[in-house]
Amino acid sequence: MPRIELPGVIDAHVHMRDPGLTHKEDWYSGTCAALHGGVVTVLDMPNNDPPVVDQASLRRKEQAAREQAACDYGLFIGASPQNADSVGALRKPVGLKMYLGDSYGPLRIDDLHVVAGHFQAWPHGRPIAVHAEGYMVAVAIALGRLFDQHVHICHVARRVEIELLRRAKQRSLNVTCEVTPHHLFLTDEDRQCLGPLAYMKPSLGSPDDLAALWENLDVIDLVATDHAPHTLDEKRAAQPPPGVPGLETMLPLLLTAVAERRLSLARLTELVVIGPARVYGLHLPVNSRVVVDTDAAYELQAQDMFTKCGWTPFEGWKVRGRVLSTTVRGMLAYDGERVLASPGFGQPI
Ligand code: NCD
Ligand code: ZN
Ligand code: ZN
Ligand code: ZN
Repeated sequence: MPRIELPGVIDAHVHMRDPGLTHKEDWYSGTCAALHGGVVTVLDMPNNDPPVVDQASLRRKEQAAREQAACDYGLFIGASPQNADSVGALRKPVGLKMYLGDSYGPLRIDDLHVVAGHFQAWPHGRPIAVHAEGYMVAVAIALGRLFDQHVHICHVARRVEIELLRRAKQRSLNVTCEVTPHHLFLTDEDRQCLGPLAYMKPSLGSPDDLAALWENLDVIDLVATDHAPHTLDEKRAAQPPPGVPGLETMLPLLLTAVAERRLSLARLTELVVIGPARVYGLHLPVNSRVVVDTDAAYELQAQDMFTKCGWTPFEGWKVRGRVLSTTVRGMLAYDGERVLASPGFGQPI
């Protein structure tokens, strides 16, 4: 059985839902899902209920993570209409998260005065990560240039967006970007059989958009899951919330692309370990590794997963590559079957 060792994966975009919406996911279930997926560090988004936008809400999340996380973590702070002048003083966040478009939760800001205020006030060095779609990608890149900020474009999903990013990088702008596995492996054609389970923001692109992401892999700094769990009941409701789980399917899907020679193992490691560390200025996880069986052929099944949400848009997908174990800071945290790390083992980065 061809076993290989990868460094522990850093997932730079997850929604653990804790505090607030822990019926969808909590720090323990979500970090167990991470370890099952070979992920040793997660960077958690601020669109909780209530959102993480100040010292008090950040403290609450820090406490929940400290008590429950089974892998390591970093936290984002959210940009709100009120907090431009105060968020910069919070030293801990890995970055500022700004929603320049409709998504899940109340953090959307679209008043240019507010948005520019954040670009002006945010302390230089740490990235401003933006949810931006279509035109807003160009707006975010321009604002980054105007205020000398590092802008990170989350979940790029369209040909025109990735082509703009190529241009921005050719001109040496301080911009980075990420792509999700669902935008690399699913298209709007999958909506027919998946229905609301294929609904997320940004929505799935056309086959041409998907092709553009693969063609421009060299422009992509990192692949992150945007693990955004919602329950099946919620997804089947009249107004389903956007978002899909992803922590437990990213590595098997990318390893399958390696088996199919669409991706090299070295590039995979850059996209899920080295890239996220570089973009967010993190040390590579020490003594952390994932052992994978690159030959294992099997079907992805939600019933094997640790996420609370109980489903995956990749149900029944035939993949090649299984996580055999995940080691975090020298400790065997997932042994191929069970999570051995207890709640609270996870450390802030
Ligand atoms: C995310 C969520 O559910 O928190 N949903 C999504 O469709 N991606 C929010 C987000 O990342 O924009
Ligand atoms: Zn498994
Ligand atoms: Zn988003
Ligand atoms: Zn997200």
